[in-house]
Amino acid sequence: MASLAEHYPWVSSPVIVSAPMSGFSGPALAHSVYAAGGIGFLGGLPDINALRTALEDATELVTGSRIPTPDTTLPIGLGALLFAQKLDEVVALVEEFRPIAVWLFAAHGPEDFGRWSEAIRKASSKTKIWIQIGSVAAALNSVESCKPDVLVLQGADAGGHGGEKGAGIISLVPETLYALERAGVIGVSIVATGGIANGAGVAAALTLGAGGVAMGTRFLAAEETKVHPAYQTAILETEDGGQTTVRAKVFDELAGPNIWPRDFDGRALIADSYRDHVKGVSIDDIRKSHAEAKQTSHLGFGDGNRRAAIWAGTGVGLVRDKASAGQIIAEVRREAKIALNSALKHVQ
Ligand SMILES: Cc1cc2nc3c(=O)[nH]c(=O)nc-3n(C[C@H](O)[C@H](O)[C@H](O)COP(=O)(O)O)c2cc1C
Repeated sequence: MASLAEHYPWVSSPVIVSAPMSGFSGPALAHSVYAAGGIGFLGGLPDINALRTALEDATELVTGSRIPTPDTTLPIGLGALLFAQKLDEVVALVEEFRPIAVWLFAAHGPEDFGRWSEAIRKASSKTKIWIQIGSVAAALNSVESCKPDVLVLQGADAGGHGGEKGAGIISLVPETLYALERAGVIGVSIVATGGIANGAGVAAALTLGAGGVAMGTRFLAAEETKVHPAYQTAILETEDGGQTTVRAKVFDELAGPNIWPRDFDGRALIADSYRDHVKGVSIDDIRKSHAEAKQTSHLGFGDGNRRAAIWAGTGVGLVRDKASAGQIIAEVRREAKIALNSALKHVQ
């Protein structure tokens, strides 16, 4: 599989990526990840003016940071939620700002990945195409429809949205690598994501065959992330993510009808809206309670009246301290090396 370092010359190993979390991953986070030798992404935003501002701010941060920047591209990636954004609007921004990569997610079908990749490559030939998918079949389909530069393999432990059906990265990554090899695919880099929140998780992903790792939930505890304090407190306080988070579609019904593609759901903390849903409370009543909680100062994220979705992966229990993105990256890199050395002792 192709090495990530080739196209992202500022990157140190192991390659750590901050996922493009819409509404959370802004210029400050993406820039700090870049400055720490990782790959930072801006979350995709349906509001094109807000997205333009984010790209302008990211450009300003990069220009002012005195870190050697690569040629003509903005060394920061841009997330795109295909079902929620307009292709021509995103392409115009890509042409203007030339981000190092666009991370495509949540298409209605593989043909959408094809259309978007083609238009983005035409607009900015140096912008790499990253595609986040969660199955072997989707990996093979997207390779055929758009030859991505990077496949982000999203395991079922991931926080936020993903495929309703899915496997953890422990089988998803090696089986996808095997299928790609059998199909004669070369030149695509593999990034693993979903449930990775510390250095041991990074080490595990690398041994599975990934060339890098993307984290979302761990970066929800970064100082630079745009997150409500009550949301961040919930992330820091929650343990045992396999019991305290759940994948469900009801989280996308809280503010109105679900607009996500059919096969998607999302992983969030188990809270009152979900409990009501399980008890059979009507969606109208769940929405009413949600709307009331959104009026409070904690916006429905606070303990006691937690009704808004707090997207988080099963690794949430490993997220214990708030820190800068640079500190998080340094820590997981250090831990990954320790974990790999320690694992080697068990195979000699
Ligand atoms: C709060 C939150 C928001 C997210 N928003 C997006 C998004 O806008 N686009 C996207 O491609 N993925 C999004 N994701 C999913 C991430 O890309 C990634 O798959 C996930 O964070 C990996 O799992 P982890 O959270 O356990 O690290 C989001 C995840 C979280 C936790």
